[in-house]
Amino acid sequence: MNLINVDYSEKIPNNVNLTEDRRVLRALEGWHPSYLDWWKDMGPEGFQESLVYLRTAVSVDPKGWAKFDYVKMPDYRWGILLAPAEEGRKVPFGQHHGEPAWQEVPGEHRALLRRLIVIQGDTEPASVEQQRHLGKTAPSLYDMRNLFQVNVEEGRHLWAMVYLLQKYFGRDGREEADELLRRRSGSADAPRMLGAFNEATPDWLSFFMFTFFTDRDGKMQLESLAQSGFDPLSRTCRFMLTEEAHHMFVGETGIGRTVQRTCEAMVAAGMDDPADIDRVRALGVIDLPTIQKKLNLHYSLSLDLFGSEVSTNAANAFNAGVKGRFRETHIDDDHQLTSATYPVLKLVGGEIKLVDEPALTALNMRLRDDYTRDCVKGVERFNKIIEKTGVRFRLTLPHVAFHRQIGEFRNVQATPAGELLNDAVWVRRCDEFLPSRGDGDFIAALMAPVSEPGQFANWIAPPKVGIDNKPGDFEYVKIAA
Ligand SMILES: [Fe+2]
Ligand SMILES: [Fe+2]
Repeated sequence: MNLINVDYSEKIPNNVNLTEDRRVLRALEGWHPSYLDWWKDMGPEGFQESLVYLRTAVSVDPKGWAKFDYVKMPDYRWGILLAPAEEGRKVPFGQHHGEPAWQEVPGEHRALLRRLIVIQGDTEPASVEQQRHLGKTAPSLYDMRNLFQVNVEEGRHLWAMVYLLQKYFGRDGREEADELLRRRSGSADAPRMLGAFNEATPDWLSFFMFTFFTDRDGKMQLESLAQSGFDPLSRTCRFMLTEEAHHMFVGETGIGRTVQRTCEAMVAAGMDDPADIDRVRALGVIDLPTIQKKLNLHYSLSLDLFGSEVSTNAANAFNAGVKGRFRETHIDDDHQLTSATYPVLKLVGGEIKLVDEPALTALNMRLRDDYTRDCVKGVERFNKIIEKTGVRFRLTLPHVAFHRQIGEFRNVQATPAGELLNDAVWVRRCDEFLPSRGDGDFIAALMAPVSEPGQFANWIAPPKVGIDNKPGDFEYVKIAA
C-alpha cells in the first residue's frame, strides 16, 4: 500500500488535528499497514470484499456523530475521536483530587497509565479475533451486519488506544502498539492478556452472551477510565462509551430474541415443561436450561475480568488519580477513601461471608458490584420476555463463587446457587451447570447461515426494528461472491 497517497484528514476522521501533528502522523503511518494486515488475517473471515451497511463515527457531536453507508470493511474509516474537553476539569479522586486534570502524562504515574491503556487496548482486537468465524453462520443479514459493526468498532477502539500510546508514550508506546497486533486470542505463545479474551466464541449464542457480559465489563472499565485524571484518556473513553452502548444492545436483543423464539415455539407446540430438553430441541430452538448454562459460563468468565476482589493495584491506580470508580463524580464522599470500608464476599474458614475491607483495596469488588447490578437489570428484561409468553422459567445470574479462576473463590468449586462442592462432586456435576460438549454440538448444529434479506434462522426471533430505521427486508450485507 502506498502510504504517501493516504490523506489522513480524509481517511481517518479525527478531532485531534492529526494532519498537523507530524510526529504522531508518522507513527500512525508506520502502524497502519500492519493494522490492515492484521485486519485481513484476523478480521471477519470470508467477508472482506462484501459491502456492509455500517455506521462510521465521523464526529463527536451527540446528534450527528454516526454516518451510515455501505462500505467494504478493510476500507472502513477508523477514526480517532475524543469527547470534547471539559473546561477547567479537575482530577476527580485520589491523592491529586482537585488539582487540574493532566494534559500530559505525569512522570510518576507513567508506567501505571501505560499498563492500563495496553490492557484495555489488548481486549479490542482480541474480540475481533474471537468472532472472526461467525459471519459464516449468521442467522440473518441483520445479525451479520451487527456482528461486523461491533468488529469494526472494536478495531476503532484499538486505534483509540494506539493513538494514546503513540502520542503520549514515545518509543515504548510505539512498541506497545506493535505488540497489540502481535498477540493473538487463544495463542499458546502470545496469548491476549486477559482470560476471557482467549476463550473461543464458537456460536452465535456465545457471541450474544459475550456482547452482553464481556462488552458490559468493557463498559465498566471504560467508565472508570473515563474518570481518569489523565484527560486525553478520559476523553477517549467517554467517546468509546457511545459505541459500547450498541455492542450491549446487540447482546441484549440477541439473547432476548433467542429466548423469545424458544418460548414462542414451545407455546405453539403446546409444551409447558422447559426442562423437557429433547422435545424442545426437536423444535429447532435452544432450550432455556441450556441458555441458562451459557449465561453461567459467560457471567463467571466476565467476573474474572475485574481481578481480585482485594487488590493493591486497584488501590494504587485510584490513589494515583488514574482509574476511578463508576460514576465517581456522582458519589458523595471524600473521593480519597482514607478511612472508608466496603463489604467483600470472602471465603472464611470454608464458608462464604461478607467481610469489611478498606474501601481503597476493595475497588475491584465495588466496580464488580456495579457491574452485577447492571447485569441483573438485563436478566430481568429476559424474564419479562419469558413471562409474557406464559412459559414458567426464570433466568438468574450464578453466585460469584461459581466457576472462578481469579480472586477469592479460585480454589473452590461451587454450584450456581453458591453451595460449595468438593472436586469429585464438581467433576460429576459440572455438566449440569456449564454447557456440555453435547450442548455445544446441539447449538452448533443449529447454526446454519441465513442470507436472504428479511429471513431469520428458526432459533431466533426477528428484531422489532431495523438498524437506521431500515425496513425488515433491507439488505444489510451485500455478500461478495
Ligand atoms: Fe471496545
Ligand atoms: Fe465493545
